[in-house]
Amino acid sequence: EKVVLAYSGGLDTSIILTWLKENYDYEVIAVCCDAGQVEDFDAVEKKAYATGASKSYIINIQEEFITDYIWPTLKAGAVYENDYLLGTSMARPLMAKKLVEVAEAEGAFYICHGCTGKGNDQVRFESTIKALNPAIKIIAPWRMWDFSSREDLLAYAEEHNIPVAQSKEKIYSRDQNIWHISHEGGNLENPWNEHLDDILVMSVAPEDAPDKPTYVDIDFEKGVPVGLNGEKLSPVALLTELNKIGGENAVGTIDIIENRLVGMKSRGVYETPGGTILYKAHTDLEKLILDRDTMAYKNIVGQKYAQLVYDGLWFTPLREAIDAFVNVTQEEVTGTVKMKLYKGNCLPVASKSENSLYSEEFATFSKDEVYDQKDAEGFINLFSLAMKIRAILKQNKQGG
Ligand code: ARG
Ligand code: SIN
Repeated sequence: EKVVLAYSGGLDTSIILTWLKENYDYEVIAVCCDAGQVEDFDAVEKKAYATGASKSYIINIQEEFITDYIWPTLKAGAVYENDYLLGTSMARPLMAKKLVEVAEAEGAFYICHGCTGKGNDQVRFESTIKALNPAIKIIAPWRMWDFSSREDLLAYAEEHNIPVAQSKEKIYSRDQNIWHISHEGGNLENPWNEHLDDILVMSVAPEDAPDKPTYVDIDFEKGVPVGLNGEKLSPVALLTELNKIGGENAVGTIDIIENRLVGMKSRGVYETPGGTILYKAHTDLEKLILDRDTMAYKNIVGQKYAQLVYDGLWFTPLREAIDAFVNVTQEEVTGTVKMKLYKGNCLPVASKSENSLYSEEFATFSKDEVYDQKDAEGFINLFSLAMKIRAILKQNKQGG
């Protein structure tokens, strides 16, 4: 029997690898997805073999992650609970898809992951696996074994000669990719503790950012970011560059309490420097281009989209249907937004588009040739007619 393991090279998945071999005597195929996290993947591969994997895959998913998961979510304007830009949530379905592909290619009937039984990630991995190949069986050690603490894990690691890279003090539970890094646990578990600045990985604290603003122009085509400062860039290059610029200017760090799908609230710090700039710029460009009703309706749909992504419902007809709607709204969203970044602030300050519905001729406070102010009188008479009828009735009742 073979089992495909979602492997990161960290302590937990190394222990799982050993535990699988000890308890099931399966052949373990370790799969590590390179989603843009800072990592030495050669070392991860070596460690997988050293820990007993029969085969190791390192799969670069960066570009697919951006074009097929991040861009659709950005175009939808999806933000979970008004703050969270879904960096972990939208990566999980793609990773699970890769695990299924490897399982199918290797003839493995099992997929194993290192998510705890208390979080969102287990749901995202497993619902994706079920959607793509319902025959595959899932092994979730955190819901099965008797280890209940960090100390138990470390004792097991020592017993089985699993190298423990970090100190015994576990700091944060982190998840990084090219879009963001999340931090949970540690001293964040008490919501009255302010997070420490040394938690930051992709960015700096506002106090440590430059005293002068940085400007960056973002070019969009049909809602998709395609260039910076007039230069066309590949998705990976664009996001990498924006993360650098955003991070230096302390843009995109949030510290929030969120509602997990499984019911409890959790506290997390998220750094999404480039992504935050892109969301703000994209929304700003839409203001120039979308009509009022489409914009308002799209906001509703965007909230639903965020919930679908957060809840691991990527491979569903509703997500695809919303994508279709969103893509129609994005047909004209082509243009450029100038962003001003300064000590954690990220402001759109100018925008232009060949498809702009903004008409200086109509909007001007100076003399114009296109708008007849007399039209407004009849419009207001009918627009307010219902209010007027009600007021007359009220008056008559009082009078009579
Ligand atoms: N709370 C965030 C989410 O649900 C981040 C989860 C981070 N996952 C992790 N394994 N560290 O999307
Ligand atoms: C985990 O519990 O494995 C990480 C946090 C989450 O999935 O929400």
